[in-house]
Amino acid sequence: MIPLRPNISAMAGYVPGYQPPDISSWIKINTNENPYPPSPEVVKAILAELGPDGANLRTYPSASSWHLREAAGLVFGFDPSWIIMANGSDEVLNNLIRAFASEGEEVGYVHPSYSYYATLAEIQGARVRTFGLTDDFRIAGFPERYEGKVFFLTTPNAPLGPAFPLAYIEELAGRCAGMLVLDETYAEFAESSALELVKKYDNVVVTRTLSKSYSLAGMRLGLAIARPEVIAALDKIRDHYNLDRLAQAACVAALRDQSYLAECCQKIRETREWFSSELRAIGYDVIPSQGNYVFASPPDRNGKRIYDGLYERKILVRHFSDPLLSHGLRISIGTREDMEKTLAAIKEIG
Ligand SMILES: Cc1ncc(COP(=O)(O)O)c(C=O)c1O
Repeated sequence: MIPLRPNISAMAGYVPGYQPPDISSWIKINTNENPYPPSPEVVKAILAELGPDGANLRTYPSASSWHLREAAGLVFGFDPSWIIMANGSDEVLNNLIRAFASEGEEVGYVHPSYSYYATLAEIQGARVRTFGLTDDFRIAGFPERYEGKVFFLTTPNAPLGPAFPLAYIEELAGRCAGMLVLDETYAEFAESSALELVKKYDNVVVTRTLSKSYSLAGMRLGLAIARPEVIAALDKIRDHYNLDRLAQAACVAALRDQSYLAECCQKIRETREWFSSELRAIGYDVIPSQGNYVFASPPDRNGKRIYDGLYERKILVRHFSDPLLSHGLRISIGTREDMEKTLAAIKEIG
């Protein structure tokens, strides 16, 4: 018998959204990727970083990713000592659990949101507690004083779409005895962010990613913003060369091109609003979304039927078998043309 730790034997492991091998033959709107390419500055920076015949790849990248922290600091209005860069925000979510929750201690999050938090907690041997949502989009039964070591709040919520109001998040920061991690993966598509709370509350961490709004899911770039003591702890835990040279070059170039980011996000927000109202016009229930996706349910509340119909037409959306979500679909916002085709296919399926 292989002497695995019992929690690893018992866990199922996370199943990410499907990446078909023939991506270009699909309208792929299942994993909240950006339909637009990254800033043209990104490609230039990657090519320059390679050096003649790729010579720069011989040497290790910067271990601290310091230029990235500086570039991110300018974008977010923080000193670089408040920022850590990560190989996707998934890496920093993992390291937050490793830093704050020992075996048997509690990690909490809202269900439905990002179930990878549970996988990461299981690996650590931490206990997982989930909380539901009320009809007015608050956390059901959240204690006056929450004693868990880490609480993850996905805002805007994925897969549903709404963001939690700043005043409510601030109230939660005061109620958490442990760390409150605000997973702002989709913040650039939203009307507001809770970033300012990091300066006000020493237990608040905000995570961001370049996967969605910056069109860089393939480079694996994320970050966390928190007090320097928290960042120093996370720096002890991470792999010392957690970001490769090309990812570092891409990251700085993308962060410096804020006008390209703003343009892309604006197009996606406009398409999101257009697509939502078209779906509502044919009887779909669409939750108002602040992300680059919508959660929409057909009138017969049979999400799987629509998923299958779209799949047959080479349109890939996300259907969750979870009973709380199986009536609907999470549909990422592609280009206007992608969404026009998706709408036509949905009408055809009926
Ligand atoms: C809520 C949420 N958090 C984190 C992530 C992970 O993002 P990254 O690509 O930065 O690892 C995702 C990806 O879909 C997500 O939806």
